[in-house]
Amino acid sequence: MSIVEWLKEDPSAGKERADGRRNRPSVTEWLKGDAGKRPEAPVERPSYSMGSDYDVQISIRNIGKTYVKNGIETKAIDDISIDVRKGELVSFIGPSGCGKTTLLNLIAGLLPPTSGVVYVGDRECVGPGRDRGMVFQDFALLPWRTVKSNVELGLEIAGVPKAERSAKADEYLRIVGLEKFANSHINELSGGMKQRVGIARALIVEPDVILMDEPFGALDAQTRNLMQAQLIEILKNTKQTIIFITHSVDEAVYLSDKVVVLTKRPTTVNEVVEIPWSRPRNRTTPEFNSIKREIVEYLEHENVMVDRCHPSPLESSAVPAVMPGHFSSDSGVST
Ligand SMILES: Nc1ncnc2c1ncn2[C@@H]1O[C@H](COP(=O)(O)OP(=O)(O)O)[C@@H](O)[C@H]1O
Ligand SMILES: [Mg+2]
Repeated sequence: MSIVEWLKEDPSAGKERADGRRNRPSVTEWLKGDAGKRPEAPVERPSYSMGSDYDVQISIRNIGKTYVKNGIETKAIDDISIDVRKGELVSFIGPSGCGKTTLLNLIAGLLPPTSGVVYVGDRECVGPGRDRGMVFQDFALLPWRTVKSNVELGLEIAGVPKAERSAKADEYLRIVGLEKFANSHINELSGGMKQRVGIARALIVEPDVILMDEPFGALDAQTRNLMQAQLIEILKNTKQTIIFITHSVDEAVYLSDKVVVLTKRPTTVNEVVEIPWSRPRNRTTPEFNSIKREIVEYLEHENVMVDRCHPSPLESSAVPAVMPGHFSSDSGVST
């Protein structure tokens, strides 16, 4: 977790837990590298989790989240259980505002759940930790530092000696194809290059899992395709486990081992679609398009345009609540 990520957290997040445990580390703890470490002994996984499946890296068990703001409750996540295995790329796709970012923040330990548990390996997640890296849609890089020193940040904070972190940064810059730009400044880079820096910064600390919240959402279609190809290359070289939030059905089917289709808010798992092919994939086959169509149908079924907690003018008009065709199978899904 970078200082930027730490600073992006909601400082009140840790106060929500009834059991008194803090979720957000103090900056001192974080600088000492204790963030995310469980204060007590690791908890045994209950028998309803995967038990003997040691390949499971993230185990989400009956997680629920209700926000309370100014006395108003917003139930974002109803009940989600899912396992992510080592080396898998699992995508979550669902209607805008259904709770995808909330779910990712729960897995990151940036927010406490209202119910349920997230396990990272066999440890209960009680806060952020270096075992989970984040990649943001808006890159969240430090513009006053060079490309290389942005990539090195996590190791620098962990107190890794200069020569070692420099060698590691070179290695990860090579993996994301930016070795020639090591000494460039962030404002000299295109959007796609900035996001490659973001990915290298997450990879360098060698986390168990990388969490990506619509990482290519801010990029144009062509750059987005290039980034997807690059991510596939990275997966080949690193076998990194990734949890990926996307709005694009095409992107989900192109990249994922598993696509988890979420319902509208309060969200739960609608359907888990396994994608049985190795990567890279051919986007033009009838089979590829048939899986895309299947996912679009699940999404269209969920796409209720009216927010039930805050009735909008739409609700009293003649506009149908369900808007067929809102989700597109070709590119992104508009929100
Ligand atoms: N800090 C918060 N306080 C209150 N409500 C929130 C907060 N963050 C998100 N929400 C609400 O929770 C719901 C899910 O939000 P989010 O997880 O950002 O959705 P998504 O990423 O799927 O678009 C939305 O209705 C949003 O308004
Ligand atoms: Mg979001």
